[in-house]
Amino acid sequence: MEAPAKINLYLGVGPLRDDGYHELATVFQALDLADGMTVLPKASGVSLEMDRDGEQVPGRASDNLAVKAARALKKRYKVKHGVEIVISKEIPVAGGMAGGSADAAGALVGCNALWGLGCSNAELAEIAAQLGSDVPFSLHGGTALGASRGEVLTPVLATGEFTWVVATSFTSLSTPEVYAKFDSMHAGRAVPAPKVPPALLAALRKGDQSALGMNLHNDLQPAAIALRPELDLLLEAGRDYGALGAMVSGSGPTCVFLARDDEHGLELAVGLSTTGLCRSARIARGPVPGARTTTIIP
Ligand code: C5P
Repeated sequence: MEAPAKINLYLGVGPLRDDGYHELATVFQALDLADGMTVLPKASGVSLEMDRDGEQVPGRASDNLAVKAARALKKRYKVKHGVEIVISKEIPVAGGMAGGSADAAGALVGCNALWGLGCSNAELAEIAAQLGSDVPFSLHGGTALGASRGEVLTPVLATGEFTWVVATSFTSLSTPEVYAKFDSMHAGRAVPAPKVPPALLAALRKGDQSALGMNLHNDLQPAAIALRPELDLLLEAGRDYGALGAMVSGSGPTCVFLARDDEHGLELAVGLSTTGLCRSARIARGPVPGARTTTIIP
């Protein structure tokens, strides 16, 4: 299975709600930077194996969102069988690209197929929303508007393909910590209801890269930079290399840069890698579909 990462082309953050979440107006895009996932049949229970960078994933297997997703599906549909989930980690961990949510979406799709449940996307999306705000989009993929806490989705018309450079950080950031920083930076001020600018949607509709680059925006960026000041230097370096747009991805610290084309993307990636300000920089393209089955091992 492929479980793609997401970026927020626009992330408008509104007031803190009574349930501890912030009202959002966001535009998600799924990228071809994806975790590989395999689901293997098992008599009972849910287990997890991580390869490659898996040791970076914090916490115990029972805290892993993919395991929680499989358990939630198993419970809802009273499944007797078990599953072993194998994840080949490509998406930066705690990097603001919904890596954990992607794995949860992959687990829902994979277990649905493995256990022959025949759940519709809408049924999976309902469970997804309970697992985390970004999980429904990780299932959905493409380009979509996200409202409420991010789980209410509307597809967005986007033409063409966009080339991004994804620069990972040496450190991670905790999403609740970044939202808390956002709150402290806005303390005593009324936070207006967020709204996605029509110019950004028009840029996507036309496939106009320059207009998209100019309209990229992330309300969490100042909070992420306050916690990791070096991110500002990395964004500046990307602009110097001619990025059409540069921003922190979600709650960070991964930064994304819009390139003119693959050749420019390569130049940008090499240039950013030499700054010493990021751990790695690589090209990713979007939009791509959401979590999907590529092979089923019976
Ligand atoms: O939904 P999820 O578990 O991914 O959210 C993680 C944390 O991010 C929440 O506990 C909350 O602190 C913050 N968050 C938020 N508003 C949102 C989404 C997430 O404050 N819309």
